Amino acid sequence: MGRIDFVWLGLAAALGACNSAPPEPPPPDLEQAPGWADALRLPELADQDPDPAVFEADLSAKRVPIDYLGGKPTIVWSFEGSVPGPLIRVPRGARVIVRFHNQLEVPTTIHWHGVRLDNAMDGVPEHSQPEVPPGGSFTYDFSVPDAGLFWYHPHVSSAAQVGFGLYGALLVEDSAEPAELGEELVIVLSDMAVNDDGQLQAPDSGGDLATLFGREGQLILVNGKIKPTIHVRPGTRLRLRVLNAAKSRYFQLALAAHSFLEIGSDGGLMSAPRSLERPVLGPAERADLLLNVARTPGANYPLRWVPFDRGYGSTEFRTEEVIAQISVEGEELVPKALPTITRSIAPLPTTDAEPIALRLTQSATTGVLQLGINDVPSWRATPLLAKVGATQVFTIDNEMDWAHPFHLHGFFFQVLRADGSPELPLAWKDTVQVPVKGRVKLVVRYDDRPGMWMFHCHVLDHADAGMMGMINLEADHGH
Ligand code: C2O
Ligand code: CU
Repeated sequence: MGRIDFVWLGLAAALGACNSAPPEPPPPDLEQAPGWADALRLPELADQDPDPAVFEADLSAKRVPIDYLGGKPTIVWSFEGSVPGPLIRVPRGARVIVRFHNQLEVPTTIHWHGVRLDNAMDGVPEHSQPEVPPGGSFTYDFSVPDAGLFWYHPHVSSAAQVGFGLYGALLVEDSAEPAELGEELVIVLSDMAVNDDGQLQAPDSGGDLATLFGREGQLILVNGKIKPTIHVRPGTRLRLRVLNAAKSRYFQLALAAHSFLEIGSDGGLMSAPRSLERPVLGPAERADLLLNVARTPGANYPLRWVPFDRGYGSTEFRTEEVIAQISVEGEELVPKALPTITRSIAPLPTTDAEPIALRLTQSATTGVLQLGINDVPSWRATPLLAKVGATQVFTIDNEMDWAHPFHLHGFFFQVLRADGSPELPLAWKDTVQVPVKGRVKLVVRYDDRPGMWMFHCHVLDHADAGMMGMINLEADHGH
């Protein structure tokens, strides 16, 4: 018997003492059986500051064993001993103070992916801070102006460090959002490349070809678990806050007999929801998905990873994989009416925008594989220039045989259609797919946070092979 049933019986008994009317059945509500989602619960980082507007905590990177293969533990790289790292949950507008401690044997940093913070807190070595050496600490102190699902990960040897397990979710909650959207679950999708003996695969295994493809781990993890099961009542509405934290793998999701309603993306809610049969998340992308669980008690629905065409080798000879299960159990729920979910997002005007042309390129001039932007690898690139307050329209052409999730630090953008009008529903994005041999246009307006801001492919093997660049955003001193 669930907790609610106990409460209800107690209440009915109390009422019965002074009123002889027969007790009524419990009202339908969204309560689930105790422990229904334990398989997917992320540990949460505890807030050490009593002020609700300030979140303060210590966060350490360290190696710990996790047993994925059964008896052959893998020494992963973790935040606070878990993969993914603990969920950080804060209200919108909060000040976030994270005292980071590097207990690894190599330098690292934390980048707060998607957060519009000051450049000094962006976690990019050489540009916003020095690397945090082994045994060193760094205090990140910033505010979170936007509601949405963000994440944190290192920005040093990212492909290796993220691939080894260093990532976690940052959920910025908005108290103004309707409460009836559904049972909320933060879902961090990732993968891990582990050898038969349980040891982590070398980050350069497979050589240049693997770099070109972008290395995927063979273990698909959902909140760090292999094929977890959640137990939900028929008719439950779930609100899945999904992040793809894998270094290269795309996640195309499918659930038999169900479709998803996408209500938000990288930067919080979209202007309007849209229905999706098979949501696709490239590395670093987020989706806010509502799912009405079928009213079929006893049914079990496998959530499948479906190969997505991101270029040569991504769909050939690959099969779907079950990555989680939804077991439908108990009494049917009558879900609360879905509130209207809209957000007013004004399209960014592009008339005075400066055009920026970027090509995502591959070269092997000296026999060493180099990826780059406009034929230049990151270590030889000259920063682009922009001024605070300016608007730029990026046209990004992919000249390679593999897709690239293009990510801009520090600022949201809007994706444009070929004719220059905004894609609908309007959404704030920080990462967008540039398909094989395809083109993407986006518009960004820089607010008043000068500094060196990075952009790069979020297939982290590509980024480390040179597909990164910088924007030097200059303060507007006026004249
Ligand atoms: Cu997730 Cu440089 O970013
Ligand atoms: Cu790429």
